[in-house]
Amino acid sequence: MTARRLPRWHEVKPLIGAENPFKNRRARALSRAASIWDLRALAQRHTPSAVFDYTDGAAGDELALKRAREVFSRIEFAPRVLRDVSNLDTSTEILGASSALPIVLAPTGFTRMMHYEGEPAVAAVAARVGIPYSLSTLGTTSIEDLANAVPNVRRWFQLYLMRDRSPSLELLERATAAGYETLILTVDAPVAGIRRRDVRNGLTIPPKLSLSTLANMSRYPAWWFNVLTTDPLEFATFRSSEGTVADLMNRVFDPSLTAADVEWARASWAGKIVVKGVQSVQDAQLVADLGVDAIVLSNHGGRQLDKAPVPLEQLPLVKATVGENLSIFIDGGVMSGSDVVAAVALGADAVLIGRAYLYGLMAGGQAGVQRAVDILQQEIGTTMSLLGARSINELTPDCVRFRAPR
Ligand SMILES: Cc1cc2nc3c(=O)[nH]c(=O)nc-3n(C[C@H](O)[C@H](O)[C@H](O)COP(=O)(O)O)c2cc1C
Repeated sequence: MTARRLPRWHEVKPLIGAENPFKNRRARALSRAASIWDLRALAQRHTPSAVFDYTDGAAGDELALKRAREVFSRIEFAPRVLRDVSNLDTSTEILGASSALPIVLAPTGFTRMMHYEGEPAVAAVAARVGIPYSLSTLGTTSIEDLANAVPNVRRWFQLYLMRDRSPSLELLERATAAGYETLILTVDAPVAGIRRRDVRNGLTIPPKLSLSTLANMSRYPAWWFNVLTTDPLEFATFRSSEGTVADLMNRVFDPSLTAADVEWARASWAGKIVVKGVQSVQDAQLVADLGVDAIVLSNHGGRQLDKAPVPLEQLPLVKATVGENLSIFIDGGVMSGSDVVAAVALGADAVLIGRAYLYGLMAGGQAGVQRAVDILQQEIGTTMSLLGARSINELTPDCVRFRAPR
């Protein structure tokens, strides 16, 4: 028979693992999130559903977003072995300056609604990692406050053109004065997309205290406590509006936008200029001829025109047509570092990330954004190593192929 004895502490201790049992529960949950999808699940648990849906949702039947993710899932890599990947370099040049990763944090409106730490938390992670951060016209932190809070981040400013040009011009002047180096002009939103989840949830900006909101409070006390005890939740650039984000966009932004307005922006901004929301080879050519520095092949993460083309599928032809003349960025549906690697291999000079960091933000504020970027960074490095690509330059179209849809 086997002899038994009492367990001894010095033998048991190593089995308990390195994890500090007193580390707070949220930090532990974040460190156990192994993918952006895990962060999404955590975000959903900690955020009122109308806020989660505003972030997670898209327009119409949400097919544009689903298809973008589906196309990434059909990527098959063509790895090369025996390549000595011991000195991996994931850095690249984005619009003339070095970036630690081929990633830009995309502009997202109303970020302080997702988590009270908001835009400064996201920008702080971008600064720490060494990638650019974009502040939206619909931001909840002002141009100057963001610059003061995170002076060492590469700051980009995203503009929606307003019906009246003078407030737009004023924003550009403020952005220049506050050291923003790049302007993103978004052109895929002449009118707001139809976001059914927001309609069904009755989401208004700022969120209204109704009977159902009060009921909801009891399920997400920390979120509500933070909202009610920090600066009022409102747009930094617009007076508080009645109605949904879509109502505001339709009221304030200019549906008469044309190529002449891109030229106006070009003439009004001394720094680099990026046109976001290009969705065809013809428009890529049109915008390239206007002398901008980059385009973002984007359908706004499926939040504008539903059933829009999938940017990743358009990328090879757009790259072949205008890639010599300007940088080509892409976004939509990126949920992993291997998605980033695939997009770069197919010709993207950088990839904009939207929801992926917002899931992190909702899951745990700045620490959650850091976790999201850490996950992407690790996945990019590991995917490149296993592909046999030692640097971003070695990510070429022959590294990937699309599998046929099932
Ligand atoms: C909650 C949310 C708010 C957004 N707000 C803006 C915005 O104010 N301006 C803009 O140009 N794009 C905006 N976008 C689009 C993003 O910049 C980006 O194109 C999109 O999120 C990319 O898709 P992904 O979320 O799948 O990464 C927003 C996206 C989300 C999810």
